[in-house]
Amino acid sequence: MGWTMDIFRRTSQHNRGTGARYTKMNSPVELVYWETQSDKKTAQKRELVLKKLGHNKKHQLIYGNPKIMKPAFDPFQYEYYIVAPGRVNLLGEHVDYNGGPVLPAAIDRQMNISANPRKDNILHLKALDLTEETWISLDQLDEKIDVNGNPLPDWALYPAGIAWIAQKRSYPISGVDAIFTSNIPIGSGLSSSAAMEVGFAALWRELDGWKLDNLELAILCQQAENQYVGVNCGLMDQFASANGVVGSALYFNTNNLDWKAVNLPPSVSIVIADSKKRRSLSTSGYNDRRTSCEEAVAILKQNLPSINNLRDVTIHDFSQNSYMLNPIQFKRARHVVEECHRVDQAMESLSKNDIIQFGELMKQGHQSLKDLYEVSLPELDTLVNIANALPGCFGARLTGAGFGGCTVSLVEEKHAKNFVEQLKDGYKKATGIEADIYICKATQGVHVEWRKPS
Ligand code: GLA
Repeated sequence: MGWTMDIFRRTSQHNRGTGARYTKMNSPVELVYWETQSDKKTAQKRELVLKKLGHNKKHQLIYGNPKIMKPAFDPFQYEYYIVAPGRVNLLGEHVDYNGGPVLPAAIDRQMNISANPRKDNILHLKALDLTEETWISLDQLDEKIDVNGNPLPDWALYPAGIAWIAQKRSYPISGVDAIFTSNIPIGSGLSSSAAMEVGFAALWRELDGWKLDNLELAILCQQAENQYVGVNCGLMDQFASANGVVGSALYFNTNNLDWKAVNLPPSVSIVIADSKKRRSLSTSGYNDRRTSCEEAVAILKQNLPSINNLRDVTIHDFSQNSYMLNPIQFKRARHVVEECHRVDQAMESLSKNDIIQFGELMKQGHQSLKDLYEVSLPELDTLVNIANALPGCFGARLTGAGFGGCTVSLVEEKHAKNFVEQLKDGYKKATGIEADIYICKATQGVHVEWRKPS
């Protein structure tokens, strides 16, 4: 029994004799039961509790638990093992569908997918964390049903969407047996769905020889989400999951799709705090926000004919012409115009290594998301307010779409541990909710972690 950040790799290590002395002497091991916990500390506590359970209780957990899915898995028994990270956005929120610049980073919270190709046209998908599985025919993707005619579970729309868009583009696509597990909390603003799309797209790219680079892969995934899942998202999440660079944020200009990696100072920690308030992009006001921005562009264009999107509107032009907008359009558009400007300023601060200034811009960004874009929640504001008052914190803001989910703080490394504890305590006292808080590393984008030698 043990805890691990990577259940696939660890199981395999045990079976190769490189895991632990006990399993070396008693291999092969079979994985019969697992649980996902929010962080290392909670996992270690839970391990102690499980270790102390008597034989009968353990037996009941393993065999009496209806959630157990058989057979147990080991990714290295599959031909392909793909890893796709989630992302955090440091600045530039709700600007990626307005041609604006964004500053996300891929993080060390990831989707792990293992798969074998099948000879038929079936996608057999197992969601290990949800302990659900489904069989989908590649001939019935349009209908969004499984082979028995039942509606697809929500999670299956993402891989099915990739297969669907690939068919639309006439890319070859194989049936697969795929299993996956993820430690990106769902609906938390860390792009668990983009990671799933990018991971499955990378799997098929590998299997079926699609000639797409990572940016093109991200665009394909965004189209699947827009057209199949029905969320009118921008490109930031899929882009970051596909193109992440170790130790770096990614400056991505969504107007012309240029991007570059920007080193983050090593003495600064990225701390993510999950408010535990969940959201769903399609049921939230996300699409409404997007519509207001489009309306604002159409109206401003009457006086500013050269603009194609809100990124093209300068702060000066906005102040001269904003009288044309209704109050909602005004607030939404003002956020976007100013947020784009904040990212430009943030790039300047990073080039001067001025993290204090960067943190100030994050604070302003949050205020604007709260007052103008109106996508914050009291719980997110509470996390941000507590964080900003703690020693070593340069700045905090909500990250992702909002309406729930996570905040991100940049914290001086030497204060990070205390920061995490105090933020957790403060949030618990203020709301009664136990936040999950992690110190994250910026990581590599989607990749084939392992492929069975042929
Ligand atoms: C979600 C969307 C992104 C982006 C953010 C807000 O994560 O998927 O495209 O719009 O919200 O910045």
